[in-house]
Amino acid sequence: MTKTRANIDFPTEIVEEGKVKILVPELKAFIKLPSDYAPSKAPVFYNPVMELNRDIAVLALQTYQKMLNREISVCEPLASCGIRGIRFATEVKGVQKVLINDINEKAFQLARYNVQMNGLSKRVTVKNQDANFFLAHYGAPRKRFDAIDIDPFGSPVPYLDSAIRALRNGGLLALTATDMAPLCGVHPKACIRKYGGKPLRTEYCHELAVRLLAGCLATTAAKHDIGISVVFSHSTNHYIRIYATTKYGAKKADESIKNMGYILHCFNCFHRETTKDSLLSSQKKCSECNSKLNAAGPLWLGKISNREFCELMEKEVKQRKFKLEKRIGKILASTKSEIEAPITYYVIDKLCDALALPVPTTKKVVESLQKKGFQASLTHFNSKGIKTDASAAKIKEFLQRTYIGSMANLVKIGC
Ligand SMILES: C[S@@+](CC[C@H](N)C(=O)[O-])C[C@H]1O[C@@H](n2cnc3c(N)ncnc32)[C@H](O)[C@@H]1O
Ligand SMILES: [Zn+2]
Repeated sequence: MTKTRANIDFPTEIVEEGKVKILVPELKAFIKLPSDYAPSKAPVFYNPVMELNRDIAVLALQTYQKMLNREISVCEPLASCGIRGIRFATEVKGVQKVLINDINEKAFQLARYNVQMNGLSKRVTVKNQDANFFLAHYGAPRKRFDAIDIDPFGSPVPYLDSAIRALRNGGLLALTATDMAPLCGVHPKACIRKYGGKPLRTEYCHELAVRLLAGCLATTAAKHDIGISVVFSHSTNHYIRIYATTKYGAKKADESIKNMGYILHCFNCFHRETTKDSLLSSQKKCSECNSKLNAAGPLWLGKISNREFCELMEKEVKQRKFKLEKRIGKILASTKSEIEAPITYYVIDKLCDALALPVPTTKKVVESLQKKGFQASLTHFNSKGIKTDASAAKIKEFLQRTYIGSMANLVKIGC
């Protein structure tokens, strides 16, 4: 249904997401060429693919509110049509007020309309300012928010300082990053510039991306004498997302900075290791094949999800009827299973490719490694990925043996 409303002079339609109805740009009206990316062509940004991102944001915020066990204030400084903030106010129990903001005048009009349409004018306030200017007004005691959700175009880094200042002690900060080309090492200079850490184009670059963003948050927060804990993170579709809580205090900042370090990777034999020594990071040779190791970082080597937080989110999703419930359940189960797993993962296709071997199922490799006494789990980062404490050399040996074994069986049965 194409309609225009007062102050909204472009084609719109109503969509339902979670428990809310929202007026959004009618995306198909803005596609002129087959190559056009509709969400960015519309006068106000709206991406239906981000429903999963918003669903998980609702679960995380509810989990956080339940852990605090009191009413909370929430802020979304880059809100577009307001769908995320309106969902927080409607679907998360214990949300006292939500402040949403967008620099785009049309987005502001649309968000204001949506707040009224959902009967939330008393609890949701809409502003039309630059996000940093807006957040700066809330950087003082008793003005700060319990939770801030930064969901920008590209990188959240330009908003980190002001978001940290506007977050209460113990607050929850949620960050989306969609600039995967810098974070995954396609544009390393841009990553170093923005995130202060070097990326690497490895098969586990999505985990590196999460760790680079978390590392950047930790070092930014430390400048304000604030420490962080990453309570949940995921890499989905074209973006990564992290949820971190903050704790005031120089000691807390020092503790969180201790999690910074480097991941060293051998492009010759797949070996990888971590170090907190910046000198070593640039000099070390591979212990398996003596090639020069390449370093990613400095980045976050600490936990990138918290068990209790994941379990509470799992409980939460079961109590709701999200369209994407199954997919979210899988992401949560997988993230939970990899909490204690070693840093980085191996992609079986890539190893088999290098060894010119057929690819066994990922599940089979995990089970066989576990039977041999290794720690092994699947990872949500990649459906062909395996997190294990077995070395690259051991996994390769295992893949070769499995192949020789299956060939011998075929010979035995006369194939
Ligand atoms: C990816 S969209 C937000 C999507 C929204 N959070 C959601 O869940 O659907 C990013 C928004 O940031 C807004 N924006 C860009 N630069 C800004 C700035 N400096 N201050 C405030 N808003 C800004 C854009 O107008 C756009 O609406
Ligand atoms: Zn090597």
